[in-house]
Amino acid sequence: MLKGIKAGLALLAVAGTAVSGAAWAAGDSAAGRAKARQCAACHGANGVAKMPNVPNIAGESPIYLEKQLKAFRGGERADPQMSVIAKPLSDQDIADLAAWYASIKVTVTVPE
Ligand code: HEC
Repeated sequence: MLKGIKAGLALLAVAGTAVSGAAWAAGDSAAGRAKARQCAACHGANGVAKMPNVPNIAGESPIYLEKQLKAFRGGERADPQMSVIAKPLSDQDIADLAAWYASIKVTVTVPE
């Protein structure tokens, strides 16, 4: 019984590594930068939003960015603009875009 649980945990650990490994390794930020031209009108060329209803995505976690883009594409998250934009993106496009926006360095200044 205990043996079975241990084996299960080991399997989970391996699967977790594979998933996060893929998320980090698959994206090409240079390719993502080129693909991000279509995003700049709303999210800015540097990932800092141009409009008050648009979130900043510069420096955001690539895992989070990828998850959100896949959610828009799959319909689990819906927005009149983003759902349309995410629909034609491939897994590679999403990984590249996530790598690009995640690579932008952001400085945070907390008010006194
Ligand atoms: C026409 C304007 C527009 C364009 C172009 C656009 N977006 Fe968005 N994006 C939005 C809006 C508006 C939201 C907020 C949606 C909501 O409120 O749920 C958003 C949300 C997002 C989010 C979720 C951020 C978060 O903090 O949860 C990501 C990631 C994102 N966009 C990536 C992209 C990428 C990558 C592209 C280009 C392929 C792109 N967007 C193009 C308007 C745009």
